[in-house]
Amino acid sequence: MRKNVLILWILICAPIIVAALVVEAGQEVHAAAGPRASLAPPVGQMMPMRGMMQRMMPDLVPPGTEPENLPAPASRGARLVVQYCWQCHNLPSPSMHAAAEWPQIAERMYVRAERMSGMMGIEVPTPADEDTLVSYLKTYAMKSVPADSLPAPASPGIALFKDFCAQCHALPDPRSHTASAWPAVVQKMETNMQLMHKRVMTAAQRKQIRDYLEQNAKSP
Ligand code: HEC
Ligand code: HEC
Repeated sequence: MRKNVLILWILICAPIIVAALVVEAGQEVHAAAGPRASLAPPVGQMMPMRGMMQRMMPDLVPPGTEPENLPAPASRGARLVVQYCWQCHNLPSPSMHAAAEWPQIAERMYVRAERMSGMMGIEVPTPADEDTLVSYLKTYAMKSVPADSLPAPASPGIALFKDFCAQCHALPDPRSHTASAWPAVVQKMETNMQLMHKRVMTAAQRKQIRDYLEQNAKSP
């Protein structure tokens, strides 16, 4: 019974969220702030909410990360990512951003959760959980390198690497994978570019980027 009421409620709210999304450029979500976590329905009942958000914003966080393939899946940090970060979009992998990027992004997400907590029943992390979340995300973050410390700065592929590989996250460190591991990673990133509507490499560009990564990779 309660589930039907929730679904009805979500149907009523849908136009309001859509309107909010349209009004605020940059996909800012506005909703009334209100009572917090204690009123949130159990995770199972948030599924319609996530499905709805996901349909509205399919290109935020790519699919493919499941609770069991998060790093250290039994840790408190991983469980909090599942509990809080899976309410509005696909499960984000901590490897999606560099450690330096996560605190600011997490902060933005807490604000979004707070705005949507009352009307939408979104659960907001407690301050202690916020700290655990950020330290978990940073611990398993992507390994990045500042552009001016990249290896082999005179390589022909470096400009393309900088151009294409920093569209979604900080510049990945070429030394974070072995030469034999890079092709599969680049392949996965190409899928991400398509899913997330970013510029996609031509075959020639992909080859130059792969050559750069493989020539400067971690030794096996
Ligand atoms: C209340 C809904 C909501 C919750 C809860 C939420 N997000 Fe988001 N998330 C969004 C929205 C809306 C966007 C798109 C706008 C933006 O990027 O700010 C987004 C985008 C993202 C992106 C893609 C943008 C980028 O900068 O790469 C990442 C990564 C992300 N969220 C991670 C997280 C993490 C980690 C958590 C848990 C700490 C979380 N989200 C919780 C709503 C949410
Ligand atoms: C369209 C967005 C996007 C672009 C562009 C992008 N990535 Fe990623 N990257 C992601 C996402 C999302 C993740 C998190 C893992 C996942 O879900 O695929 C990630 C994670 C990573 C990681 C850490 C995970 C791992 O497997 O080690 C590396 C390294 C990486 N990207 C390298 C690259 C390289 C190299 C390029 C350029 C060829 C690139 N990325 C371009 C979205 C992108």
